[in-house]
Amino acid sequence: MSDYLPGLEGVPATRSNISYIDGEKGILAYRGYPVEQLAEYSSFEETTLLLLDGRLPTVDELSDFDDHLRRNRRVKYNVREIMKKLPATGHPMEMLQTAVASLGMFYPGNACLTGSDLCEDLNYIHNMSVKIIARIPVIVAMWEHIRKGYDPIEPRTDMTTAENFLYMLKGVEPEPLHAQIMDSCLVLHAEHTINASTFAALVTGSTLASPYGVIAAAIGTLSGPLHGGANEKVVDMLKRIGRPENVQKWFDKQMEAKEKIWGYGHREYSVKDPRANILQKHLEKLAVRHGMADNQLYETAKKLEEIANERLGERGIFPNVDYYSGILYNELGIRTDQFTPIFAISRSAGWLAHWREQLADNRIFRPTQVYTGEPIRDYVHLHQR
Ligand code: COA
Repeated sequence: MSDYLPGLEGVPATRSNISYIDGEKGILAYRGYPVEQLAEYSSFEETTLLLLDGRLPTVDELSDFDDHLRRNRRVKYNVREIMKKLPATGHPMEMLQTAVASLGMFYPGNACLTGSDLCEDLNYIHNMSVKIIARIPVIVAMWEHIRKGYDPIEPRTDMTTAENFLYMLKGVEPEPLHAQIMDSCLVLHAEHTINASTFAALVTGSTLASPYGVIAAAIGTLSGPLHGGANEKVVDMLKRIGRPENVQKWFDKQMEAKEKIWGYGHREYSVKDPRANILQKHLEKLAVRHGMADNQLYETAKKLEEIANERLGERGIFPNVDYYSGILYNELGIRTDQFTPIFAISRSAGWLAHWREQLADNRIFRPTQVYTGEPIRDYVHLHQR
């Protein structure tokens, strides 16, 4: 194949049975189960095990897995020391990438680096996955305190991932509704076929790099505003617009300048992202609880959706998952720059499921290119130029 397709649009990069998207019908399913049902009936822990193992766990399997995650929440003192040395003004995604990469130094077991048979050892893969999935939320929450110069709050083992994350972030036990919404958000962001960060994980994993290297590469990829970083941009954009009355003028100017609307558009969907619909329902629930009738951010977002859909909808450009997630996290009292790290907490499940799938039938990624440079020519010595 010699045709170059920018962004590899439409090029299958792997075979996978982990998740499925029908972008015209707005369907997303993990291991065949529609995301709407998982968001309503499952939990982040169960969904993670479903993604890793390929089937819904039994009661005992889920309980063992949950227990394993809870017992792996503590992060070594030296990792905290590294975090304490990082500048408080740095972006939490850069902190997270640094901290996750450093885990490989402190929690060895990088059997894959040797290319040994352990790459096919499901226990090894499972244990490494648990170590990473359990610690990412803890690291993200720890950073909230470390960057303010305080000691982080210790993780608890009597809470779910979502509860413990909110508890460590804020220092108080979360309201049940907030924990339930956070859990559902973690389910919704856990997996999404071969997106840019998952592809980065696959490429890194295909070299038999350690899982910490795999996840650090994926975190770096997720951080960009065209991918996970869009949720922050959406909130910044809505704050800049200010009020629903300002939307039309702002939107017209944006279109005239050929600028994008953050949280809009998707390579796979030509309808509204099914996850955006669920996140919006969560926002409505919070609106009732918090009395958000005059929440400017949400009202502005709804107005912008109405206006943008009229103009962009005919081209199949609709709200994606990032459109409402930031407003939701904002309503849960979470700082804007922690939105994308929350995405990473959740997506670590999908990345590691793909890592496992890649190792089961590995071949190093080594695509080709269309060369556009100079023909072969003789070197010109320095003084003859
Ligand atoms: N606002 C306005 N126009 C948009 C748009 C948006 N958010 N997203 C895509 N378009 C338009 C582009 O301007 C382009 O128009 P053109 O053909 O006239 O040049 C066309 O749609 C194709 O866009 P392109 O960026 O090439 O699509 P892509 O499939 O490569 O990119 C995204 C997909 C997600 C990167 C893109 O939609 C985007 O940048 N969205 C905003 C960032 C975002 O929300 N990212 C989170 C994704 S979950």
